Amino acid sequence: MAAVLCALALARCASPASPSGPVYPEKDRAAEAARLLSGPEWYRHAVFYEVYVRSFQDSDGDGIGDLRGLVSRLDDLQTLGIDALWLMPIMPSPFADSGYDVSDYRAIDSAYGTMSDFDALLAAAHARGMRVLVDLVVNHTSVAHPWFQESRQSRTNARADWYVWSDTPGRPDVPCGPMPTFGTSAWTLDPVRGQYYFHRFYPAQPDLDYWNPDVVAATLDVARFWLDRGVDGFRCDAIGLLYESAAGCDMLPETVAYIQQLRQVLDAHPGRAMVAEPIGFGTAAPYFGNGQDMFHMAFDFGYGFLWDTWFSAASAQPLADHFSAVQQALPAGAQNALYIGSHDVQRAFARSMGIASRWRRAALVQMTMPGTPFVYYGEELALRPGSQVVVDGRDHARTPMPWDAPPLPGAQWSGFGWGFTTGWPWIAFGAEPEGTNLEIERDDPGSTYAFYRSLLGLRRGRESFGTGTLRILPTDQPSVLLYVRESADETYVVAVGMDEGAWHTAVAADANLPGDPARLFGDARLARDGSAARVTMPPAGMGVFRVR
Ligand code: GLC
Ligand code: MG
Repeated sequence: MAAVLCALALARCASPASPSGPVYPEKDRAAEAARLLSGPEWYRHAVFYEVYVRSFQDSDGDGIGDLRGLVSRLDDLQTLGIDALWLMPIMPSPFADSGYDVSDYRAIDSAYGTMSDFDALLAAAHARGMRVLVDLVVNHTSVAHPWFQESRQSRTNARADWYVWSDTPGRPDVPCGPMPTFGTSAWTLDPVRGQYYFHRFYPAQPDLDYWNPDVVAATLDVARFWLDRGVDGFRCDAIGLLYESAAGCDMLPETVAYIQQLRQVLDAHPGRAMVAEPIGFGTAAPYFGNGQDMFHMAFDFGYGFLWDTWFSAASAQPLADHFSAVQQALPAGAQNALYIGSHDVQRAFARSMGIASRWRRAALVQMTMPGTPFVYYGEELALRPGSQVVVDGRDHARTPMPWDAPPLPGAQWSGFGWGFTTGWPWIAFGAEPEGTNLEIERDDPGSTYAFYRSLLGLRRGRESFGTGTLRILPTDQPSVLLYVRESADETYVVAVGMDEGAWHTAVAADANLPGDPARLFGDARLARDGSAARVTMPPAGMGVFRVR
């Protein structure tokens, strides 16, 4: 019914368009997806989902999301089209930085459950063909970690050199300040030892000293521990910052060598993958080495940090330039990792100024440009930012998932836990949970959830999007981005409109499309005219077409 209304009103239903144009031999997409996701390059075809376990689903009414709660939501994630999870830190932590301050590398934080809950999560995910990456946070520990507690006792104890100590708040061979948002000094005086220790992040997160080979061995052992447990890999936190020297602090040759060792540890366990959190906005090329010996994936910070700026201007050039540059910079075999939101940035809703077509087009680019998409939990519901701060300002994008809608008056309901908890949530929900919960969006064909489901469905089982080639087509219309994704036996064209105010027609003179376009998604139109292609679209339009 809603779909009919949508068509009658000529509303721009960017959600699944009925296919128009020629019909190409259709593959069994479920079988294709199974084939792609079970092969050695599974991570290039998977759609990942970043979970903040604390805010995802509470199972025991303490207001804190937990591993058992997450298990109970795996079916929902599968329905959405998710193939793999990245769990933000779940190891014991005093929580000075939301778990990025680890006090025990071989256990589960009691608020999240037990090691057997974790094993059960792995088993439940694997039974569904889903993979699980955990956050590996080894640039620093918590001050509460026993290694630091020992190190600070004296200048001569067995772990005296496991951290970066100094008599003064600075050292010429450690020429680095704190990372942005983590204070004004990277040095804090420890009264017990009577020396300063170095920390790129909060004072509660002392940096390990990687010049000490025992530290290298200890953290590689941590990786082995989780791989042996059955995790499918790691998201490596701040990994470029391991070593410091007079030459600098970011991706020193010694850090590169460590990452190569970590890769060997991973490769001893078949089918695992790891993704780097790089430092800075430049391309992540240094994290890939020769394409085989370092990371499988690294986050594209250029797109992740700048898409909102790019989508607020009416030009396609920054996007075209960015993805061309990435394509040229990365070695063969490297896989870009594309996100539009994470636990470190504002919600896509806020970055889009509440304009739905922005986060939708940004998500379309995320799912169809070369790379692996990482969806941040709640993005599929267009979660609004929260306003309560428990840890720091990033909490506005770390609010609980609203799952259930309030029923009709009089019916039984879990109250203001919105299905996340039967208790009192550890942090307040973001704004408007009544309009941004799974239950209400699931049945609304115009919702962000419906948009994500159809977009992920479009990508599913189509090799071109995970590993196909990219050809950006120059057009005579600066506000239209047009590109071709191609694999051995299929070719797709994607069109994205950057102008939110006017209809546009764009002509790509040398498109040389192999066949006539059949629209699979969106509201744009594409026609082939000899070697040229012509796209017509409404304001903020978009389209995905099959041309072979
Ligand atoms: C990474 C994490 C961030 C954390 C920091 C310190 O940047 O994404 O959330 O605060 O590392 O671990
Ligand atoms: Mg709980």
